[in-house]
Amino acid sequence: MLVLGFESSCDETGVALVESVGEQAPRLLSHALHTQVRMHAAYGGVVPELASRDHIRRALPLATRVLEEAGRSLGDVDVVAYTRGPGLAGALLVGAGIACALGAALDRPVLGVHHLEGHLLSPFMSADPPQFPFVVLLVSGGHTQLMRVDGVGRYAMLGETIDDAAGEAFDKSAKLMGLGYPGGPALARLAEQGDPKAFALPRPLLHSGNLDFSFAGLKTAVLTQAKKLGDQLEGRKADLAASTQAAIVDVLVRKSMAAVAQSGLQRLVVAGGVGANRDLRAQLNAACAKRGVRVHYPELELCTDNGAMIAMAAAMRLAAGAEQAERRYAFDVKPRWPLDAL
Ligand code: KG4
Ligand code: ZN
Repeated sequence: MLVLGFESSCDETGVALVESVGEQAPRLLSHALHTQVRMHAAYGGVVPELASRDHIRRALPLATRVLEEAGRSLGDVDVVAYTRGPGLAGALLVGAGIACALGAALDRPVLGVHHLEGHLLSPFMSADPPQFPFVVLLVSGGHTQLMRVDGVGRYAMLGETIDDAAGEAFDKSAKLMGLGYPGGPALARLAEQGDPKAFALPRPLLHSGNLDFSFAGLKTAVLTQAKKLGDQLEGRKADLAASTQAAIVDVLVRKSMAAVAQSGLQRLVVAGGVGANRDLRAQLNAACAKRGVRVHYPELELCTDNGAMIAMAAAMRLAAGAEQAERRYAFDVKPRWPLDAL
């Protein structure tokens, strides 16, 4: 079975082709991505209307490329999948519209996929795929969640952020340090030259006794510190970046390890854009090694938004019998859609 998947929930257009044969795990054949980062950078953040318009331009040419690379044609596609939510309504509608129009034209069934389930299952495309059950730390630009995962579609929330997401904490801190958009990767790069102990920044909810997160206060603390530094900020930016990253990573690592301990499981999966962060990976690797816990990540290029995770999540849902693709081409999207509601 060949699944063609479209991702268009935010500022990346992603298309991919995944094949599943019998009982074997679905396999990624090809994928292509167009990032709108340069277009939005001029505005300091994602402009939803521009995002939607650009998805329209990119989606079909990317699909053509993906099919060519895999040596397949449109007629070979068995199911067309797309991101149904959560995300920007207009951007989601573009992917859903294109996928459902393609499905109708090809007389093939379609399937709407949860974006976070895509992230969560993306490590199954890595060289070291996990096995169920596991605890997942889902850290993206919009979400920070710890879940227990017992199988495809079997997700139980353990804890989540009560305000900003970890990715937002990176992005907002970076913005007020003048590092541009998107700030996460820029802040992480600068942090490599700084001292993570230079400034004592808060670790919110670290001792709350539950698995929830809060990152809104950190941004304020970074702003206060930046103001205090005044003219000296320029010379101390790397130190401030390193201290900010250390605070975020520290909380993520300690809460993840607490979740693993509480669950009694020996396996942790990390997914979402912030999962690309090198310091987070290093600290998690060390903490997991100490406790004999296996930790799995997606390939670096599949940490941030992409089409491969959408095609893969669709293929895995279908293989697990969690859902059926249907020849129903009237679509809606879900800009807000909790994952444990699946
Ligand atoms: O999963 P993702 O691509 O999009 C959402 O679904 O939100 O995550 C994007 C987030 C952004 O906040 C970005 O700054 C952050 O992931 N990010 C990073 C790194 N790479 C991406 N944050 C810290 N370090 C990185 N290397
Ligand atoms: Zn995402």
